[in-house]
This record gives sequence, C-alpha cells and structure tokens, in this order.
Amino acid sequence: MSINFHDEENRFGYAKRQVDSGWIKKILEIVNPREKHVIDIGCGGGIYTRAWAQLGASEVLGLDFSENMIQTARGMSINIPNISFLVRNAISTRLEDKITDIVFERALIHHISDISGCLSEALRLLKSGGIYIIQDRTPEDITVPASKEHIRGYFFEKFPFLLDIEYKRRPRTNIIQKKLKETGFMEIKSYSLWETRKIYQNLADLTIDMRERTGRSILHELSNKQLEELIDYISINIQSEKMIIEKDRWTIWSAIR
Ligand SMILES: C[S@@+](CC[C@H](N)C(=O)[O-])C[C@H]1O[C@@H](n2cnc3c(N)ncnc32)[C@H](O)[C@@H]1O
Repeated sequence: MSINFHDEENRFGYAKRQVDSGWIKKILEIVNPREKHVIDIGCGGGIYTRAWAQLGASEVLGLDFSENMIQTARGMSINIPNISFLVRNAISTRLEDKITDIVFERALIHHISDISGCLSEALRLLKSGGIYIIQDRTPEDITVPASKEHIRGYFFEKFPFLLDIEYKRRPRTNIIQKKLKETGFMEIKSYSLWETRKIYQNLADLTIDMRERTGRSILHELSNKQLEELIDYISINIQSEKMIIEKDRWTIWSAIR
C-alpha cells in the first residue's frame, strides 16, 4: 500500500518540521544558492522550499502533484515574497526549458516509478551549468543498525518484512549515478548526510510521534497491534527517560547540466 499524498489527513505531514543545521551545512558545501533560481520538486508542505529562500535564493518555486500539499505550502509561506507554488507532476512540470539554476528533490524519487523520466525533466528545466540535487535514503542508509539515535533501525529489527518493502522502492547510489550519466548530466557526485529528524524530551514523546506518523511513513504498513508491539520493543531497547535525538542517514546526489 503506497502513501496517499492527496489525502487531507496528510496535508500537514511535510509542513512543520525544522530544517536540520546539518542539512544547511551540507547544501552550502555543494552549492551557493545566493541570488539563484531554485525549483523544489515534490516540495510537500514547503519546509525546504522556505529553507532555500532563507539561504538567499532570489526565487524559489515549489512543485508538488498534490493539491493539498500545495495549499498547505502556500499557507505556510504567505510572508515570504520570493516563493511560489504550483500543482505539477515531477515527470512533466509543463514549465519552460532552461529556467532554473538549481533543481532540488528531497524524499521524492523513491515514490517515482519512472526515475529516468524524472531525471530528464530536471535536466530540461536546468540552465547550462545548473545543478541537480537529489536527496533520498538508499538501502544502505535504511539498514544502518538500530540505536538510540537511529530509531528507524528498530522498525526493521522488529519487523523484517518492512525491509522487503524498502528494498523494492529505495534507490541505489550507483543506479542513480548511472541514470544521471545516461540522462546527460556531468560531474556526478554523492554524499552521505546524517540529519536530525526530531528531538524528543523523553521516550513518551517519541511514542506519541510514532502513533501520529502512520499515514505518511513506512509505519503505515503495520497494523495498530504491530505498531504497539514496535513501540514496546523500542521502549525496552532504549530504556531511558532522557532526551532522544532521532537521526536518519541520507544520500545526496549532485550533478551538473
Ligand atoms: C516524502 S514527501 C517529501 C516532501 C518534501 N520534499 C520534504 O522533504 O519534506 C514526498 C512528496 O512528493 C510528492 N510527490 C510524489 N510523487 C510526485 C510526483 N510524481 N510529482 C510531484 N510530486 C510528487 C508528494 O505529494 C509529497 O509531497
């Protein structure tokens, strides 16, 4: 069962998180967005669209195929003059050729069946010398062992069948590199990034968050009973009343047109 991004229930799911300072540092190592035009495809509630504007981009356009996501993103970006949003599909944005300096896609490509189509569309939108930045989690990122920081690792330790789902949809680093090359991109690079997902005051806070995550995470594959079993499993393993800093490992690919 795939996530329904058009569902009203998920409309704030990708709108309210804080951008991690580690993400900002890594992006600034890859590109200087100052005075650049940026398109954020699969922007959800616009968390990163707004981040690009805060990093000094001259104009940022967020695209998403979900009307609900775009309405939320617009509502949360009202006071930012150089941001706009459109309902568009990543495979066919219907925008003009060569209109942007940076195309950014975070947590999008594992939802796309036609990855080559998505890459070609990004190439088409970029000006010569423009940069394409993809961020997603690969099977290697997903299978980092569980720990007090890598909470997601417990999901797969407790329910290995979730890994089969992830293996089917998660992009492999070398496959994306190969596809980028085939599409016509140059200077293809990949990086690892540990991003803080969320900070919880204690275990009780984490369990509340886990119960709320189900509609828009791999956890939506679990029944309510399984979710409660997972929460018990994590509680036993973490056994702490102290602050929990949940982190995820990501892969970032960059490539030049
Ligand atoms: C996991 S969310 C990530 C949102 C945002 N990029 C972030 O990192 O917070 C994936 C987003 O991609 C959008 N999406 C999925 N398939 C898409 C497609 N073919 N075209 C445009 N947007 C798509 C979904 O509606 C959703 O908002």
